[in-house]
Amino acid sequence: MFIDTHCHISKNDSNFNEVLEQMKDNIMIISGCDPISNKEVVELTKEYSNIYGVIGIHPDEVDNINKEDIEFLKENIKNSKIVGIGEIGLDYYHNNENKEKQKNLFLKQIDIALSNNKPIVIHSREAIQDTIDILKEKNITNAVMHCYGGSIETAKELVKQGIRLGIGGVVTFKNGLRLKEVVKAIPLEYLLLETDSPYLSPEPFRGQVNVPYNCYYVAKVIAELKGISLDQVLLKTTENACIQFDLKL
Ligand code: NI
Repeated sequence: MFIDTHCHISKNDSNFNEVLEQMKDNIMIISGCDPISNKEVVELTKEYSNIYGVIGIHPDEVDNINKEDIEFLKENIKNSKIVGIGEIGLDYYHNNENKEKQKNLFLKQIDIALSNNKPIVIHSREAIQDTIDILKEKNITNAVMHCYGGSIETAKELVKQGIRLGIGGVVTFKNGLRLKEVVKAIPLEYLLLETDSPYLSPEPFRGQVNVPYNCYYVAKVIAELKGISLDQVLLKTTENACIQFDLKL
């Protein structure tokens, strides 16, 4: 068994039933990113026992939300199957002209997580220093850096603060050398499996639509890099996810 700690799945996906069938013995934590997906995440967690969710407003959506969308987060984070606030953070790749607005939204959502004692799932793109500054300022220890793609030094800094790293398909890429080094250097206790489906399909499916089951291929590469068995990786990362998201399986 394994847990895909970060995927974007919707009932509107043409492969939705196939994904459910493939994952029937595994667990998915579906991530919202805007008001519409957040509502669907809440619905899906109610309908399927092996689906948990995190809800949040992605930094790319900062100009498209209103007060009610934040109220929705405050109300629904209280649901036991909504296990965190995410994906939230900073994205200066898509827009670096609204940095202050992004930071404010990030901080607002961090506060919702903190006051409900739940973790945050962080998206950070071309904004790592500002992200780390905010995490330190808010003394965040209960968090996941989703789709980690940074340096070993930054990874160590995050782990020192207690933050776990979500490892996805990039670790299987031939040019994913930096991430491979990160995986070697960071204790397994701090790694989580994720796919970010439908994006970032691992080898040997690179370029195709990603599915949560492909966590298996990410785990295989982690096992090779760590020199341990696939079973050990699946077992330990499942345990890590249960601790991180307070899952009682
Ligand atoms: Ni994502």
